[in-house]
Amino acid sequence: MTTKKKAVVLGATGMMGQRFVQLLSSHPWFELSAVAASDKSVGKSYGEATGANGGKELGDTARSLRVVEASPRTVGDPDIVFSALPAEVASQVEEDFATAGFPVFSNASSHRMDNYVPLLNPEVNPEHAGLVEEQKRRMKRDGFIVANPNCTTAILTLSLKPLDQEFGLETVIVSSMQAISGAGYPGVASFDILENVIPFIRNEEAKVESETNKILGTMTSPAAITVSASCHRVPTINGHIEAVFARTRSPITPERAAEKMADFQSIPQRLKLPTAPAHPIIVRKEEDRPQTRLDVDEGGGMTVSVGRIRADPGLKGIKYIALGHNLVRGGAGCSILNAELLVAKKYIQ
Ligand SMILES: NC(=O)c1ccc[n+]([C@@H]2O[C@H](COP(=O)([O-])OP(=O)(O)OC[C@H]3O[C@@H](n4cnc5c(N)ncnc54)[C@H](OP(=O)(O)O)[C@@H]3O)[C@@H](O)[C@H]2O)c1
Repeated sequence: MTTKKKAVVLGATGMMGQRFVQLLSSHPWFELSAVAASDKSVGKSYGEATGANGGKELGDTARSLRVVEASPRTVGDPDIVFSALPAEVASQVEEDFATAGFPVFSNASSHRMDNYVPLLNPEVNPEHAGLVEEQKRRMKRDGFIVANPNCTTAILTLSLKPLDQEFGLETVIVSSMQAISGAGYPGVASFDILENVIPFIRNEEAKVESETNKILGTMTSPAAITVSASCHRVPTINGHIEAVFARTRSPITPERAAEKMADFQSIPQRLKLPTAPAHPIIVRKEEDRPQTRLDVDEGGGMTVSVGRIRADPGLKGIKYIALGHNLVRGGAGCSILNAELLVAKKYIQ
């Protein structure tokens, strides 16, 4: 790509927004042109607005940008908009940007389940990208919204895709152990989470159950997999671990599941997109892996590490552990790879 595409980040000062800024600082196709956040940050330099939280890895160019209001009138003329806004704000602001003609890549839950909004996990359902054309027609606008899944769902659906493809999923049970960065900044109070596990994350289980079926379904109708989730906050910084139990329509063995997962590749790998990891899934053979501290950054945070694949007597299927980076595969990295896919497929000129 000769000229880099200009990208703005909405909600740039938050936990996810800072990860967007970091990943964009060395991106071969995209360059950061503006950062937007709430009234609290508007007018400050990005370095000042992120304070002690904004480290060197954000880059000097980004740290000297002025934070602007999150509106189509204030961000210049970007080619791509990345949104890391809270859902209650994203709902209207993302619509405003799409109506003004911008392609919006959203991390918020606001539009994930909307008809004609692709809920895209790029290796899992890349063909859903085509929905943006229908969205533009129906909404009579040049811009569009592409959502990426909730962090837990992004990790789960990537691990499930090769199983669904080969054996057909019938039932999935998942129990998550989710890092505190998943709650944003400042997130969960330290007094609540240190030396503790909180067995409740508001709305998370319903999101995992519905989003998984939208992603693993066709472009127009969700899959009919019975999905049951139990979600828990644990005192790790980054990385969600999930204990997954799956029953399939055709017979499955741990060995064949491991083989299909390890061999799994998809369109982003074939197109050699810059953010696509060489291996979307890595299967660990050690009895005590994956572990959050050791494996969370695998593939630059874009790879899901799977281990302990074994037979499950309960569902008469298999069970395994999956680990992924909530801010990268589960957020900014997934969104950036979605944008690369839409550029490569010429949905963005
Ligand atoms: N954290 C994760 O692992 C994760 C994973 C997947 C999806 N998500 C989703 O990503 C989004 C961002 O999450 P986060 O964890 O980064 O949250 P966060 O740390 O709380 O950051 C929120 C960001 O939104 C900005 N903001 C708040 N109100 C605003 C307003 N009225 N107008 C403009 N900007 C506003 C904040 O700016 P100020 O700093 O100026 O207040 C900040 O930049 C959420 O929708 C979340 O559900 C998060």
